[in-house]
Amino acid sequence: MSDLLAQIEEIEGAALGQVQASADLDALRDLEVATLGRKGSLTSVLRGLKDLSPDDRRAAGQRSNDLKRKLQEAIDRRRAALEEAEVQASLEKDRLDPTQPGPPRAYGHPHPILAMQRELAQLFESMGFTVMDGPEVETEYYNFEALNIPSWHPARDMQDTFWLKGGGVLRTHTSGMQIRAMQERGAPLRVVALGRVFRNEDQDASHEHTFHQIEGLVVDEGISVAHLKGVLDAMLQGVFGEPVTSRLRPSYFPFVEPGLELDFECRICKGKGCPTCKGTGWVEMCGCGMVHPNVLKAGGIDSERYTGFAFGLGIDRLTMMRYAVPDIRLFMSGDLRFLEQFHTG
Ligand code: PHE
Repeated sequence: MSDLLAQIEEIEGAALGQVQASADLDALRDLEVATLGRKGSLTSVLRGLKDLSPDDRRAAGQRSNDLKRKLQEAIDRRRAALEEAEVQASLEKDRLDPTQPGPPRAYGHPHPILAMQRELAQLFESMGFTVMDGPEVETEYYNFEALNIPSWHPARDMQDTFWLKGGGVLRTHTSGMQIRAMQERGAPLRVVALGRVFRNEDQDASHEHTFHQIEGLVVDEGISVAHLKGVLDAMLQGVFGEPVTSRLRPSYFPFVEPGLELDFECRICKGKGCPTCKGTGWVEMCGCGMVHPNVLKAGGIDSERYTGFAFGLGIDRLTMMRYAVPDIRLFMSGDLRFLEQFHTG
C-alpha cells in the first residue's frame, strides 16, 4: 500500500513540474503519453490497485484519481498556453497590415498607333470634322473606279493590291471613304476616316503590307489650297506640339487636281540635311490636293457649285517621326520591350 502511495507522490512531484517545463506541444504530448497514456506511469499504478485490500484500494484509488484529474487539467492548461503562444508567434512572423495597398496590377495601354489614331481623331473633331469608319474589304468601285482610276489606268499599278475571290479588294488606301462620305452626307462636308490599309508590298524598315492611314475631306463653297495648307499645318502643330514648317509641291494622284504632296521640315536636322531626310532637309508626309470634279460627281456633288480638298497620310510613318522609331515593322512585332516604352498611363 505505502509503496503505491509513494509511487503516486513521486509521479505527482515530477510530472506537475514537467508539465510546466514542456517547451512545446510535442514535448507536452510525450509527457501526457508517458504519464496518463495506456502504458503511462500513473496508469500502471492504477493497474496495481487490484492487488490491494478494499480499504487501501479506496484510499489509493481516490488519491490517484485526484492526481489524474490534476495532471490532466495542468496538461490542458499548458497545451492551451502553448497553442496561444504558437498563434502569437506566427502572427508576429507573418504580420498582415490590412491598411497596406495591394500589389500593383499590370494594366495594358493603347498601342502607339491606336494612341496616335485617337489623338488625330480628337484633333480633327476639335476643328469640326466628323470621324467616319469604313470597310477594310472594299469594292473595286470605291477603291479605284469612283476615284477616277479606271481599270486601264497605270495608277492602279502604283498600288500593289490584294485582290479577293469574288472581286473585292483589301483597301489599298482610305481614299474610298471620300466617295462613301459624299454619298452618305452630301455637301458641305468635313470628315476624316482612319484605319488599316493593305498593300502587297515587299517589307523593309519603312514598308509594311498592313499599315494605317488617315483620310481627310472637306467640301464646301469656295474651298481652296489655302484651306488645305492651313488644316495640315494645324495637324502638324497638334502632333509635334509646336509650329512646323511645311511646303507643298506638285504631285500626281488621279483623284485630285491639282495633285500635291506636303513635306515638312526635318525634325532631326531642322532642314540642314541628314540621313533621316536623305540630305534634303524635308520629310514627305502626305498626298493631297483639290478634289477632282469627276470624284465630286461620283460622290453626287455639284462640282460647279462646290470645291473641296482631300489628303491622305500614313499614321505609322507619322508615329515613327514623332518618336524616332527606326523600323516600321516594330509596331506589329508584338515585342513588349518596344511597346512598353509607350506606356504613359
Ligand atoms: N490615297 C493616297 C495614297 O494612299 C493619298 C492621297 C489621299 C492623295 C488624298 C491625295 C488625296 O497614297
